[in-house]
Amino acid sequence: MASYEIEYHNYDVVVVGAGGAGLRATLGMAEQGLRTACVTKVFPTRSHTVAAQGGIAASLSNMGPDHWQWHLYDTVKGSDWLGDTDAMEYLAREAPKAVYELEHYGVPFSRTEDGKIYQRPFGGHTTEFGEGPPVQRTCAAADRTGHAILHTLYGQSLKHSAEFFIEYFAIDLIMGEDGACEGVVAWNLDDGTMHVFNAKMVVLATGGYGRAYFNCTSAHTCTGDGAGMIARAGLPLQDMEFVQFHPTGIFGPGMLITEGARGEGGYLTNSEGERFMERYAPTYKDLASRDVVSRCMTLEIREGRGVGPDKDHIYLHLNHLPPETLNLRLPGISESARIFAGVDVTKEPIPVLPTVHYNMGGIPTNYWGEVLNPTKSDPDAVAPGLMAVGEAGCASVHGANRLGSNSLIDLVVFGRAAAIRAGQTVDPDTPNRAANKAAVDAALDRFDKLRHADGSISTAELRLEMQKTMQDDAAVFRTDKTLAEGVEKMQAVAAKMDDIQVTDRSLIWNSDLMETLELANLMPNALATIVSAEARKESRGAHAQEDHPDRDDEKWRVHTLARLDGNKVTLDYRPVHLDPLTKHEEGGIDLKKIAPKARVY
Ligand code: FUM
Repeated sequence: MASYEIEYHNYDVVVVGAGGAGLRATLGMAEQGLRTACVTKVFPTRSHTVAAQGGIAASLSNMGPDHWQWHLYDTVKGSDWLGDTDAMEYLAREAPKAVYELEHYGVPFSRTEDGKIYQRPFGGHTTEFGEGPPVQRTCAAADRTGHAILHTLYGQSLKHSAEFFIEYFAIDLIMGEDGACEGVVAWNLDDGTMHVFNAKMVVLATGGYGRAYFNCTSAHTCTGDGAGMIARAGLPLQDMEFVQFHPTGIFGPGMLITEGARGEGGYLTNSEGERFMERYAPTYKDLASRDVVSRCMTLEIREGRGVGPDKDHIYLHLNHLPPETLNLRLPGISESARIFAGVDVTKEPIPVLPTVHYNMGGIPTNYWGEVLNPTKSDPDAVAPGLMAVGEAGCASVHGANRLGSNSLIDLVVFGRAAAIRAGQTVDPDTPNRAANKAAVDAALDRFDKLRHADGSISTAELRLEMQKTMQDDAAVFRTDKTLAEGVEKMQAVAAKMDDIQVTDRSLIWNSDLMETLELANLMPNALATIVSAEARKESRGAHAQEDHPDRDDEKWRVHTLARLDGNKVTLDYRPVHLDPLTKHEEGGIDLKKIAPKARVY
């Protein structure tokens, strides 16, 4: 058995991850006087939320009429009718409150002439239940909204005495014999020490797993660490087949060019100079939902109308916009385009391509952020002591496809909800249960085995194999054949983890070992994604299955659950929540408004 000296810590709550959701949860817990630790592998303000550009959706009505029910309708339609109605209602209703709280915490939002929070149009956000013109619902701090939110939440968390354990890598959950979570084991990257964080509640806010793919807008740190820990604890992952491609990653390096660029009036063209979105989405054009725009771009390229010498990308035009607008509203992407594409956006179009951007699936939760461990008799059974928020979680508000700017609002609404819930369920006056020693030992054994791994394939080589497989076989368009081949290839790739080679055995800032631990987390995410995708014989949202082009609500309006035992993935399904939180007679939405129908923009 591996032998490491351990430092023990006791808290009411341990939050793993310090992006928007992790910090909002940390702040909310600490504000209520819960002893709260935030364990994070990167400095909080370097978390991936810092890269979020275009904004945060909330029906504030600052720029014209809006209503939370219109936001709910757009989210339901955007999700292609796979989201849970109660969670989506919670999101849309709580969004204005959550944004005003951010404003009061100090987020420096851009302003209108009369001093209100500035809001821009974003894809799929409309008025009048999809019958009216696009709405300006996305609250923005220029095109650096995530940056502004992250810095504010970190400052506020410190003010409320939350304790931060920075550059600590969470290795595994400590699950009690009765299935309740009792804490987390972590490795301090800076001095090589091992830590047990014992807590009454563990909140996973570890972000997505974009790095399972070759080309993505996600930071290198987006390695699905929370979902990896969940899979190893024997708990399921939900709806992993739904992977969002953002229409406008810079061709080549993949950096994000915000949808806010199209919100401010940008448009896409093909090799014939045609604004092709007018053909596919006559009403909302370039502001159709992301999955739709990504597919249209891919079709244009496939049909020979891509731009560039190899006709393999599309142009995004901002050069018709006034330079003052670009300077005021889109300074960050103007700089990214110059640095990463060599383009002066005031003069030339930006070469762009759909790029992996977001994982709709993740750790299943209810709308309080409590992790679910569904059984046949209780599909909403809660796993005690465990919450998941942000991109790591799946509440499920995004269903099969997320609307742009619904991610930042998801982070703060559900980070806040988790704190409210913990305030009701965590008793700071009762002592913590002792951490299960067998679970701590198992975590350290796994760590030690990887630390001394002496196989023949390097972490970088194996990671690349995984990324290429996912990129090729779980892409914008999928077929029975590509998915079946992808499952077989991914099984072979994952099996090679047993032959991994780590060359650095040290404990202090051992990035070779850290990347190996991250790869071990990416693998279950990738496996669950491709196996769940292969099984879903319909097209819905981001899952465009060419052999099954129609949505099949009768059979497939269900959430996929994927459990892993080693590399073996077993699938099950649980019902979608169709009931809203508030009955129509009591001021809730009329269910007829959100009944499934064809999804056209
Ligand atoms: O395009 C963007 O600014 C991205 C926003 C989002 O993913 O919500």
